[in-house]
Amino acid sequence: MKLDNRTAIITGAASGIGRATAHAFARAGAKVMIADIDLASAERVAAEIADADTSGEADAVRVDVSQFADVEAMVARTVEVFGAVDVIFNNAGIAGGAPLLDHDPEADYHRLLRVDQDGVYYGILAAGRQMAKQGTGGVIISTSSVYGEQAAELSFTYSAAKAAVISFTRSAAYELAEHGIRAVAITPGRVATPIINQFSDELKATFAGEQLRGALTDPDEIADVVTFLASDESRVINGTVVSVEDGYSVFKQRLDLPVF
Ligand SMILES: NC(=O)c1ccc[n+]([C@@H]2O[C@H](COP(=O)([O-])OP(=O)(O)OC[C@H]3O[C@@H](n4cnc5c(N)ncnc54)[C@H](O)[C@@H]3O)[C@@H](O)[C@H]2O)c1
Repeated sequence: MKLDNRTAIITGAASGIGRATAHAFARAGAKVMIADIDLASAERVAAEIADADTSGEADAVRVDVSQFADVEAMVARTVEVFGAVDVIFNNAGIAGGAPLLDHDPEADYHRLLRVDQDGVYYGILAAGRQMAKQGTGGVIISTSSVYGEQAAELSFTYSAAKAAVISFTRSAAYELAEHGIRAVAITPGRVATPIINQFSDELKATFAGEQLRGALTDPDEIADVVTFLASDESRVINGTVVSVEDGYSVFKQRLDLPVF
């Protein structure tokens, strides 16, 4: 199995991409800490994994990734339960926002940055320290977004945070290489999770049309890539962004152009 004897923390693992990845990691043989601000849902995911026929294991912990003390406690709890931290998937995130000129700086800027930017920094710092102490290397995967590389509606702060995740990944890879620790960012496009599913069918169809297969991405499809990135098979991928966006960024729109 790809992740046999590996211990992984996944933040935001109670739902969407994080939940799908927790299942995929467990199927690959990992021991997974399901970390989320929603403890009841995190415990449900851990129970699903326990019930599934996999060689992996799971436990759950409540974490608010915007609080460094919580993130440190999450790492300490994982060491207590599973003995080590070999992989962290910094994936918890929130979306939304107002048009720039309508911003309330607290609600529309600082609140988002604390989760989407500070939360990833705290995960890299706390897990990186633990991995360096263990001396056996490690992998840090963080969820950015296609919005980390472009402007979009209502996305002034979200885009900034997701751009920071890409920068953190480069710098962490550079600084932590001497400890055998890799860092990689992923940029999903339109994934069928509650963040997208809250919108109307019409809007979801528009989102689907922004990707080459004309469909929303299934969270399990992101999970497959993250599992690969967590494994030794991807050891040459370090410090860079792995696009998991089904061609979202390679075209603007499909036009019914007459032959000319
Ligand atoms: N769905 C998409 O289309 C899409 C696209 C690009 C990037 N992303 C990113 O993917 C990541 C996962 O999102 P998702 O689509 O699976 O959404 P989701 O809402 O299904 O899952 C997010 C999880 O994060 C948890 N969370 C929120 N705030 C937290 C906090 N402060 N501390 C700990 N946990 C917290 C939530 O409880 C939830 O379980 C996010 O970082 C998001 O920005 C999603």
